[in-house]
Amino acid sequence: MVTEHQRIKDEHVQLREAVAHLRDTLPPQTSGPIVAWYGSLDTELAEFIEMVERHFALEEEGGYMRELRDEYPRLGHRIDELAAEHASIREALSGCRKEAREGVGATELVEHLHRGLDLLAKHESAETELFQDAMQSDIGAAD
Ligand SMILES: [Fe+2]
Ligand SMILES: [Fe+2]
Repeated sequence: MVTEHQRIKDEHVQLREAVAHLRDTLPPQTSGPIVAWYGSLDTELAEFIEMVERHFALEEEGGYMRELRDEYPRLGHRIDELAAEHASIREALSGCRKEAREGVGATELVEHLHRGLDLLAKHESAETELFQDAMQSDIGAAD
């Protein structure tokens, strides 16, 4: 669990950097359609979604979800919520990619992208909090 936990924490750092990078590539919301940007966005988004998918798979299959649920049944409800959020984040991000391909207006697309990235950032923070709570209860139990 400790090794997996560290790996997930490392990935969270990488993911935060990738989110910041992606946000930096988004044009200001006032700009109109930018053809070149749509082209590069598709590649950027594809890579980003792949990274998120790998991270989610690690958490769902080998990572923290099952282990934490077994070790700390009282956290089960929060783990269920986090697992459900994976589905909404997947949907939000792939929806943005679809919109980019369909040529949705830049203002709307940028807004949806920020919303998707916000969802992801919030989710990752909630996970960090969950890990901290689990560790706190270990410390509490050792007292
Ligand atoms: Fe997650
Ligand atoms: Fe995560």
